[in-house]
This record gives sequence, structure tokens and C-alpha cells, in this order.
Amino acid sequence: MKRILLSLVLAATCATTLLGADKKITVGFSQIGAESGWRTANTESIKSEAAKRGINLKFADAQQKQENQIKALRSFVAQGVDVIAFSPVVETGWEPVLREIKKAKIPVILSDRLVNVTDPSLYVTFIGADFVEEGRRAGNWLVKATGGKAVIAELVGTPGSAPAIDRKKGFEEVISKHPGMKIVKSQSGDFTRAKGKEVMESFLKSPDAKQINALFAHNDDMALGAIQAMEEAGVKPGKDILIVSIDGVRGAFEAMAAGKLNCTVECNPLIGPQLFDSVEAILAKKTLPKRTAVQEGVFEQSQAAAELPKRKY
Ligand code: AHR
Repeated sequence: MKRILLSLVLAATCATTLLGADKKITVGFSQIGAESGWRTANTESIKSEAAKRGINLKFADAQQKQENQIKALRSFVAQGVDVIAFSPVVETGWEPVLREIKKAKIPVILSDRLVNVTDPSLYVTFIGADFVEEGRRAGNWLVKATGGKAVIAELVGTPGSAPAIDRKKGFEEVISKHPGMKIVKSQSGDFTRAKGKEVMESFLKSPDAKQINALFAHNDDMALGAIQAMEEAGVKPGKDILIVSIDGVRGAFEAMAAGKLNCTVECNPLIGPQLFDSVEAILAKKTLPKRTAVQEGVFEQSQAAAELPKRKY
């Protein structure tokens, strides 16, 4: 007990000394929402790391709406926070608000997703995954599993978001080298389980549904929804239709252990420690790299049972 108290006091001391004896670091964080298991784990990682370091976190949930994120960012400026961090729901449309933040001299960290801006000085650093590479990894797995022959349905993430754009790009880059692989259906399931199920139901009702033998879902939640839709339609997920998705959440490992999902490409949401390392480095006037990648793997059905107890999200 004594030791826990001591480490909490130490963390709080570290977080205050950067700004002077009696001032806590205040960070405004605008989160996209709670659309997926991945996002819930990401939020938890950020909140728990802030608490551990004694950082005053102003957390705003945008419910997947860019306008709510912009409002939150402006309110962080009005409150005079020390650092602003956010996970942008889509790539474009951020320049005006980022210019306002720059004018207020508040450093910005992009967490998880990048923005598309002409002036890179509008943010200090980006911490997140390489989504193009994740798409390539999913494509490579499918090429290997099908010998380069597949009729593919694709569940796309939120339109205009960095992971949806980049994962599609990486996946298509790989499969385009194999004339036997083609995407015959492609629609957004908005990264949610409910939407993934709904879109898969419509794919399965289409006249050419019988030829589909592979599914690429841009995240696990949509794949899990699609699995439900397949089972309700009498299609065996993981067998009649091979499924590869992205994230590596616990539910995906459970589905793999049950033989219903074939592969998940990891996208690590536990970036709270890296985020607050960056906050502290910025306030200590250290120079940061423009981009910090997170470490990720690829997992197949055969690894699911052994990996499941070790999953942290
Ligand atoms: O930006 C990361 C993506 O966003 C995750 O793959 C997905 O599950 C989440 O909604």
C-alpha cells in the first residue's frame, strides 16, 4: 500500500515539476467516440495513463462527429490547456481550427489517426500505426491462404478516415498483383459491429453472393458483425467465407479460437504511455520525431488459443 501511494505521489510530482511547483499539466483530449472494442481500449489506455502520471485530463467524446471534435478543440483553447491531443475522425477539414490552436500557442499531438494538412507545423507529432502496412499485411495473408484466387467482399471503415483510406490502399496494392483476386463488393460499415452485420446481410442477399469466398473487414468489430450475419444466413464463417480483419481485439481471438475468423492484423490501441511521454517531452522543450510508430503483429487461427490469455484488450 505504502509503495503504491509513494509511486502515485512521485508520478504527480513529475507531472507538476514540468510546469512549476504548484501547477498540474492539463491536457485536452478529443476522442472519436466508442465505435469499437479497439476505441474503448484506446480510451482506457489514455485515461489510466493520465491518472497514473497525475495529469489533469479533459476528455471529450465526439460521438463520431467531426463538428463535435472541432467544438471540443475550441473549448480546450478557451480553457487554456497546456497540450491538445486528438484522434481525428476523418482526414480533412482541420486546417482552420488547427490554425486557431497554433495562434493560441498550444502544441498539438495527433493520436492514432493522421490529418491531411498542407502545413505540417500545425501539429507537433503523430503517434499511431501504419495503416497502409496493415492493409498490406491483410492482403498478403489472403493471397497466401487462397493461393492468389479469391472473390472478395470488403467492409470499409468510416468514409474519409485515415484507416479506411490507407487500409484499402495497402490491401489493393497487394491483391492487384494477383489477377485471380478481385473485390466484388465494397461498402462502409463505419467500424461498428451493427453496421458490419447490416452491410454483410445485404452482400449475402445480392444475386452474386454465392461466389464470395473471402471477406476483408477494415476492423474486427465489423468482421464480428459479419460473422453473425453469415451464421444467420446459413453460411459458415471462416470456412465458406475466409475472413481477415484488423485490430486484434479479444473478441477476434475468441472468434479465431472458435474457427469463425481466420486472421487478425494487429493495430495496437494502448498508446496512452507514448502519448503522455510526448506531452512531457514537449513541455520539457525536447524535439520530437514527426511520427512515432507502434509495434504490431499478425495472428492466425492456429495461434489464437495460446495468445488469448495474453491479450490486454
Ligand atoms: O483508427 C483505428 C481504428 O478505429 C480501429 O481499427 C477501429 O477499430 C477504430 O474504430
